[in-house]
Amino acid sequence: MPARSGTAPGSGTGTAAWYRHFGTVDAPGSSPCYADWSVHIAEDPELIARIDEWPYNKRQPLLMLAAARFLGAEISPYREFRAFLDAHWAEVSGIVLSRATQTNEVGRCATLLPSLAGIAAAEGRPLALIEVGASAGLALFPDRYSYEFDDGGTVTRVGPAGFGGPTRVTVSGEPPPVPGRPLAGSRPEPPVLHCRTAGPVPLPDSLPEVVWRAGIDLNPLDVRNTDNVAWLEALIWPEQEFRRARLRRAVAVAREEPPLLVAGDLNEQLPALAARAPADAALVVFHSAVMGYLSAGGRARFRTTMQGLTHSRGCHWLSNEGETVIIQEDGSAVVPEMDAERLRGNFLLQHNGRPVAITGPHGQSLEWL
Ligand SMILES: C[S@@+](CC[C@H](N)C(=O)[O-])C[C@H]1O[C@@H](n2cnc3c(N)ncnc32)[C@H](O)[C@@H]1O
Repeated sequence: MPARSGTAPGSGTGTAAWYRHFGTVDAPGSSPCYADWSVHIAEDPELIARIDEWPYNKRQPLLMLAAARFLGAEISPYREFRAFLDAHWAEVSGIVLSRATQTNEVGRCATLLPSLAGIAAAEGRPLALIEVGASAGLALFPDRYSYEFDDGGTVTRVGPAGFGGPTRVTVSGEPPPVPGRPLAGSRPEPPVLHCRTAGPVPLPDSLPEVVWRAGIDLNPLDVRNTDNVAWLEALIWPEQEFRRARLRRAVAVAREEPPLLVAGDLNEQLPALAARAPADAALVVFHSAVMGYLSAGGRARFRTTMQGLTHSRGCHWLSNEGETVIIQEDGSAVVPEMDAERLRGNFLLQHNGRPVAITGPHGQSLEWL
């Protein structure tokens, strides 16, 4: 669980406040259903008492709601959802206690792609990728997905050769439908990742070559395990069917050649894994939506490890994290020149500690700085 999400800021403390905050601040823009359910849960002392029987880090709204969805809860009025919980409470508890929020958002590849391609071009060699906090490792396949970057007037497509013709196509106005034919050699059809752009985004002409990919996670999810994939689908907000569709396509791509995923703490595992990367490739260590799970000490240790790797190995470090990681314990900001308001609800993408873009948390937007 992200360290910061323990108490809803400004709305009191405790589980009811947590659900109220989730239902009134976090959910409304993405899921009217979750917003409605969470607000009702906050007003339901009997249910709150049951949730409070779980360990503190298991009480978070998204975990409980995803557990219910995993078990089949459909979008419905709260009364029906409450009846579902009553009928399935023991199973909901079982899922909550055995699973964690590990959303693997493949859309984030769109916001990483320009940086990855830029690194490969500057280094003049292919990439070796390590993702820390990789979940199922779906972001380790940026070279296998298709992209549509839309600056409001022009749509630029970049994709694997063999999918939809040339590697890069620029289309003005309404984009034509993405071709639905399979890749040459009957490879699965890749997800198409749409991303709104602003500013001078260095869009690549082609996808970078990736010769090695590996991830680290406390609990790696194997894409070949159907329960794991069902859990990843349940973690997506109910109304966001487009995210489930692209997740399924990404899973099909990853299943062809499942990535090497090391189980363990990123601080413990990273040095040894980095030593396994091929020396003739440009090593990139990246992460999205992970640092919030670490204590301030864990983040400081990670920064030191990364600074060491960038010096000793010439490794590149891409950090794509939310505002809470930017604000430090003492209240100071990692990027003092950045207006906190501009970041609110967004992620900051940094390359070797230098801010390069403000990104949508699910990869839906990329504003180059
Ligand atoms: C919200 S998910 C993000 C997954 C992926 N980075 C993405 O963008 O789709 C965060 C992941 O970080 C992992 N994680 C949290 N703390 C970790 C740690 N100390 N070491 C390794 N993995 C960790 C969790 O298990 C989870 O799978």
